[in-house]
Formats: sequence, C-alpha cells, structure tokens
Amino acid sequence: GKIGVVIVAAGRGERAGQSAEGPKQYRSIGGEPVIRRTLRAFAGHPAISDIVVAIHADDATQFDRAAGDLRPRMRTVVGGGTRQESTLHALAALADSDLDFVLIHDGVRPFVDGSLIDRVIAGVDQGRGSLPALPVSDTLKNASADRIVIGTTDRAGLFAAQTPQGFPFAAILEAHQRAAEAGRDDFTDDAAIAEWAKIPVRIVDGNADNTKITWAKDLEMANLRLAQSAS
Ligand code: C5P
Repeated sequence: GKIGVVIVAAGRGERAGQSAEGPKQYRSIGGEPVIRRTLRAFAGHPAISDIVVAIHADDATQFDRAAGDLRPRMRTVVGGGTRQESTLHALAALADSDLDFVLIHDGVRPFVDGSLIDRVIAGVDQGRGSLPALPVSDTLKNASADRIVIGTTDRAGLFAAQTPQGFPFAAILEAHQRAAEAGRDDFTDDAAIAEWAKIPVRIVDGNADNTKITWAKDLEMANLRLAQSAS
C-alpha cells in the first residue's frame, strides 16, 4: 500500500523556555536542529511516498533552513491552535494523494528510526491502526489537587504511547473531521481519536530512546546522548 507521513511541528514549545533559536523543534541537538533529525528518518525511508509537515506561519524561513537539502522531499501546511488541528490540516493536504496508510509523528521526537517505522507499518492494516508504546514501569498514583495520594492504579496492561502512529488513511481523516465537527479538541494523540471513532488500534514495541522533547532538560539529555554515541 501507499504510505504517507504527517509530521506536526507547529507548536510554540513554551514549556522548553525561550531561546534565540526559537521553538524547541528548531533548537540544535548534536549540532543540528531537532526537526532535521526527525525529517531525515522519514525522508530516508524507502516505503514512504508523501511527507507533509505542519508548521507555524511564523516559522517558514526557519523551517526551510532547518530542512536544508531535505526540503524538496516534503510539503508544508500551516498548523492550527492545537496539535489535533495541525494534524487535521496536514491530513487534509494529503487527501488527493491516493494513500492507503498514513503515519502521524511529533516533530519533537527526533530519535525515531527506520526499525521503529518498520514496526509501526507492519502493525497497520485496512481495518486497524498501530502505535508504538512501552509498558509502564513506574507505580502509578492517583492524587488530589493538593497532592495527597488517593489511590494506586494497577499498572498491568498500561502502556505509554509514542509516535509515529499509523492508520488507514481514509478512516483517520474521516475520524479527525468528525471529531472537529463534534467540537472535540481535547485529544492528545491520534490513537485517542481512532478510539473515539471505533477504529481498532494495535500496540507494537516502542523504543525507549524515542523520547519527546518537551522541557529544557530534554534538550540537555538529547545533547548528552548524541555526544556519547558520537564518541
Ligand atoms: O506541545 P507538545 O510537545 O505536546 O506538542 C507535540 C507536537 O505537536 C510537537 O511536535 C508540536 O510542534 C506539535 N504541535 C502542533 N501544533 C500545535 C501544538 C503542537 O503541530 N498547535
């Protein structure tokens, strides 16, 4: 089947703090922008035809510079006010590309690699999506607003979800459109929209290195990890 990719990179990254380099997806790790590492993993994958990246309207120049020689391999769309909205804009831009499947990925997960992409692709079929996840290893606590422990949640059967998440293209586009029409704007990943639309989703093995860059300390960790693997 024909496979496209959506990369969402239109967020402002406010939790990572301010920098002259701009939002976290444009900050450097290991000597190159976060987003460029992410783009390279997909641009170099032989099974992927179309790539659409949702970017912020203010970031066009910065994006072009960060993508560099990879830029002709992809199209961009302007994102929206939420991750969910940015994803819908990018999916809509792929509507005429005759795709069977689409992978949807956070621009701020630069450690995605070919074998993870392969596992997600192997997990999708016409009636089912696929997402990489890892079993939760911490003990989970429920707490009140003032942080008093109320209970302990059994972690058996709980997984922490990553991206890329793969879906049959027409089904996930329709699910996103219906969610938007229903006024739902609180989904934090696409598998939650699939769940709402009753599209079955299967878990494949995630990768512990495939972390999401959210906070300033995540940028430091990424730099350290890349420095280690280079030496
Ligand atoms: O903010 P958070 O880290 O959860 O964002 C996850 C991904 O969604 C990031 O790659 C971010 O750029 C993207 N995003 C987006 N449009 C928004 C908000 C977030 O594309 N309005």
